[in-house]
Amino acid sequence: MKHRTIIEPFRIKSVEPIGISTEAERIEQLKDAHYNPFLLRSRDVIIDLMTDSGTSAMSAHQWAGMMEGDEAYAGSRSWERMQDAVRELTGLDHVLPTHQGRAAERIIYGHLGGPGKVFISNTHFDTTRANIEFTGATAIDIPIAEGRDPAIRHPFKGNMDVAELENLLKQHRGHVGAVILTVTNNSGGGQPVSMANAEGVAAICKRHGVPFLLDCCRIAENSWFVKHREECMEGLSYRQIAQRMFSLADGAVMSAKKDALVNMGGFLALRDGAIAEACTNLLIITEGFTTYGGLSGRDMEAIAIGLEEVFDPHYLDYRIRSTKFLGEKLHALGVPLMRPIGGHAVYVDAKALYRHIAPDQYPGQALVVELYRLAGIRAVEIGSVMFGTYAADGSLKPSAMELVRLAIPRRVYTQSHMEYAAETFEEIMLTRDQVRGYRIIKEPRFLRHFTAHFEQM
Ligand code: F0G
Repeated sequence: MKHRTIIEPFRIKSVEPIGISTEAERIEQLKDAHYNPFLLRSRDVIIDLMTDSGTSAMSAHQWAGMMEGDEAYAGSRSWERMQDAVRELTGLDHVLPTHQGRAAERIIYGHLGGPGKVFISNTHFDTTRANIEFTGATAIDIPIAEGRDPAIRHPFKGNMDVAELENLLKQHRGHVGAVILTVTNNSGGGQPVSMANAEGVAAICKRHGVPFLLDCCRIAENSWFVKHREECMEGLSYRQIAQRMFSLADGAVMSAKKDALVNMGGFLALRDGAIAEACTNLLIITEGFTTYGGLSGRDMEAIAIGLEEVFDPHYLDYRIRSTKFLGEKLHALGVPLMRPIGGHAVYVDAKALYRHIAPDQYPGQALVVELYRLAGIRAVEIGSVMFGTYAADGSLKPSAMELVRLAIPRRVYTQSHMEYAAETFEEIMLTRDQVRGYRIIKEPRFLRHFTAHFEQM
């Protein structure tokens, strides 16, 4: 018999209680947090869909592995395990361990970047863009046109526009630091990148002599989509698909907090020895010695095991199908969504949901506040709060889309948690006309969404 019900392919051995609050309490908590979910206390949150990063539940095998952690400063056995796991998966020889993804980004973009340099991506994640711009370089996003429209159906909305890539490489000849494919494309809706697109990008980069990097933090989830949506790929295993994609790249940056199923960690992996050597100097100055970077031995054990577990077909099936489960429930309620549903999250199109709220009044932020007020659900705005900039006259240059991300932590929530989230949207749909926008009353220069203060219009 073929079942409709997706079961979690694990049993729960250890539980963490959730505090249940009232709406009146949450209204006060929102005020105290200046309507910014990053400033809420985790113990007040009922279902935390802020991120899938560092929030995974580790397996019994990973916890057991942590006891095996070798905490030696140099030459740790756990480092050998992690290095082997990364080399085997990526085929990249030079592996630099870092405490998380952005530390690897700071190292590689610090080396390749600088004033006058240009970086090109399907979409730079916010920390990627910030690390590039911090060096004085410019970051340009060129997703395919379909990737910019939440409603258009396309199997690989994470793809890069290869014609535009050619143009930009000609235009900025001699100044391109690297081309980066983010798989899956997080800021573009968690949408996958096809193997054909990665091959196209790699070939163009090779022709122009420009480094091609993968931001591979969700590479296993991307492999699921490639296997099920791309021709001639169904015969390969998820791991083989990932390996093939890595074989095209000159390097990879990974936040292990996603598809390595751990709470902390990352790495930079490179093919070229000379670049690796320069990066290793930066690693030692800012992260740690080459055989631990920013990590404990136990973290490296957990990463090595997580990189195996994540390619388990039963896990990946459950993972992608359970994200889709939430997405389909919301779609059935008429909630405007980024479709098809991506791998790690459901993205609500807040611009289409709240048509009466202009981008400079942050419709995504309004939805984030509603979700918390009604249900204690914490989500994150991926729109003009995160990516908006100001024109010379002080007006907002809005981001291309106003999305709200409901990111699903790996192996943490069950189907009933997702049903509770979906039920909340019934109320959101009924009361959508009464919701007001927000203005920013305080913000820092970089990554403003983390600490900005808001006020209701
Ligand atoms: N690249 C991508 C595509 C990411 O999604 C992230 C993190 C990073 C790089 C940076 O990694 O957090 O380990 O320093 N994304 C998290 C998120 C924060 O919520 O999507 P990090």
